[in-house]
Amino acid sequence: MCGICAYVGKENAVKHVLEGLKILEYRGYDSAGISYIENEKLRTIKAVGEIANLEQKVDEIFSNIAVGHTRWATHGGVTENNAHPHLSFTQNIAMVHNGIIENYKELKEELKLDKWNSQTDTEVFVNLVETEKGNLIQKLISASQKAIGSFAVAILDKSGFLVLGKRESPLYVAYVKGGIMAVSDTYVLSGLAQEFFTLKDNEFAEIKNDKIYFYNKNGKKITKNSEKMQFFNKKTQIFEKTHMKSEILETKDVLLETFMKYKNGDIFSKVILPKKLKEINLIACGTAYHSSLQGAEYFKKMGISAHSYIASEFRYGNEILNKNALYIFVSQSGETADTIACAKMLKEKGMVCLALTNTPNSYLNQICENVLPTFAGKEIAVASTKAYSCQVFVLYLFSLYLSGKFIEKKEEIEKVLNNFELIDVDKTLVDKISNFEKIFFVGRGQDYITALESSLKLKEITYINSFAIASGELKHGTLALIDKKSIVIALCTEEKTKEKLFSNIEEILAREGSVILVTNFENSFESLKIPTFPSEFMPLIAIIPMQFLALHMCEKLGYNPDKPKNLAKSVTVE
Ligand code: AGP
Repeated sequence: MCGICAYVGKENAVKHVLEGLKILEYRGYDSAGISYIENEKLRTIKAVGEIANLEQKVDEIFSNIAVGHTRWATHGGVTENNAHPHLSFTQNIAMVHNGIIENYKELKEELKLDKWNSQTDTEVFVNLVETEKGNLIQKLISASQKAIGSFAVAILDKSGFLVLGKRESPLYVAYVKGGIMAVSDTYVLSGLAQEFFTLKDNEFAEIKNDKIYFYNKNGKKITKNSEKMQFFNKKTQIFEKTHMKSEILETKDVLLETFMKYKNGDIFSKVILPKKLKEINLIACGTAYHSSLQGAEYFKKMGISAHSYIASEFRYGNEILNKNALYIFVSQSGETADTIACAKMLKEKGMVCLALTNTPNSYLNQICENVLPTFAGKEIAVASTKAYSCQVFVLYLFSLYLSGKFIEKKEEIEKVLNNFELIDVDKTLVDKISNFEKIFFVGRGQDYITALESSLKLKEITYINSFAIASGELKHGTLALIDKKSIVIALCTEEKTKEKLFSNIEEILAREGSVILVTNFENSFESLKIPTFPSEFMPLIAIIPMQFLALHMCEKLGYNPDKPKNLAKSVTVE
């Protein structure tokens, strides 16, 4: 949520920052801005909307130093005034910020300024910094002691240098060609740097005279070791008109790629487990929570007790912790604030934690140290597709590994993956479903989990009000909503519940609701046929047409599936 990019060096900083912001746009895209120094003057340009709008305004500008920001609004509406960077009242420093200063209202009152230009917490923070004592790095360190909440900040000083600070939100800094760059995501550094430094919580940096100086929270200079850049796999990339379409189409390849990486068992053998593994608890948000639900099903099938939790609920809930449990944090980005907050809390309490992430070097990986990577490649579209499939798949492989069945299943898995089909939905079906006011997804067992994920996909990119329900629950309330204006998409891939689901369909039809059955079984209903694979693979097969359905309905409505309104790819605030 919110992307930061700063550059100082011999080359055009404005150009570097804009290129960086374009890569970071997935983190927020409601407005963007840049501050730079030209003729010894600190200048700021902002634009509402995508980076392209900002780009038009800064064309032809040259500067050796700049900070830029792409915003996902937290405090204050989407306006130019609320866009970053924010200047202090002296106009001497400009700040870009990712995070939330929770006590900004109290701080604002204490600052007693005559005029505020925005409604943001960031404008309060930059003014707090300005009013502290000492040089800029000292000011930032003491301001951060008064600020409650999260921040990754880059501040440009009018006299031509940068300072950085970090608590909870990510920030990286690296020596790049001709200069130094600070970024919210190391992906921006691909092709520019081989190594980078990760700012840890309550660490700060000053970038002056072509050097980076690091400081701890007491203002003491510290030395830090650099880390090697790890790259996303690019072999599997497909280029379609939208990232979402490319990413769905890449699913088969990335599943195969992931399997190849896991095949020899080396990755699993490095996993640290509790001495006596008694249960597995999975913690995640959104789509990753749905893959965790599916993961828990796999573990239970192998006789291992497992539960899945929504991170934001777990964090403030009353769950009883267990030293004999393995806590798995599932996250595509590895930087989701709610998930990270849980990981930090459980780590501190001495629990065995494992990160299952798609992003090399992510913050979650650093917290847990114990990591199972997915090899989905970079996922850019806000709606997660191929990463979901890889999460489900790795959790399946891990369940086999823990139950000692991984080796015997390898051949079958490879065969399934080689025959894996990406089922699309045709236009007639898309048109039909589009005519309904109410859209429901139902299923039982693992199909209910697929229904949850299908409904989330549809909601997030079409803005259509839909929800998912376990089909056995319909008669306990939701059936009251079913009428001529309703269509129910029923998923059915499990033999044991097939007949029960078919009865639920009859109940819907009897109330004049329409039904589309998504199934690999023979049936007499209007249906979308999917191929039959061993039951554990059916969630992977069945989700693809549901992702395509959401995509086509989004295209039909003329929306951009890659950048749904109000959302961002990385949710770095709680
Ligand atoms: C997925 O389509 C969503 N955009 C969202 O629910 C996402 O899965 C969630 O925010 C968790 O993200 P993470 O996997 O990066 O932690």
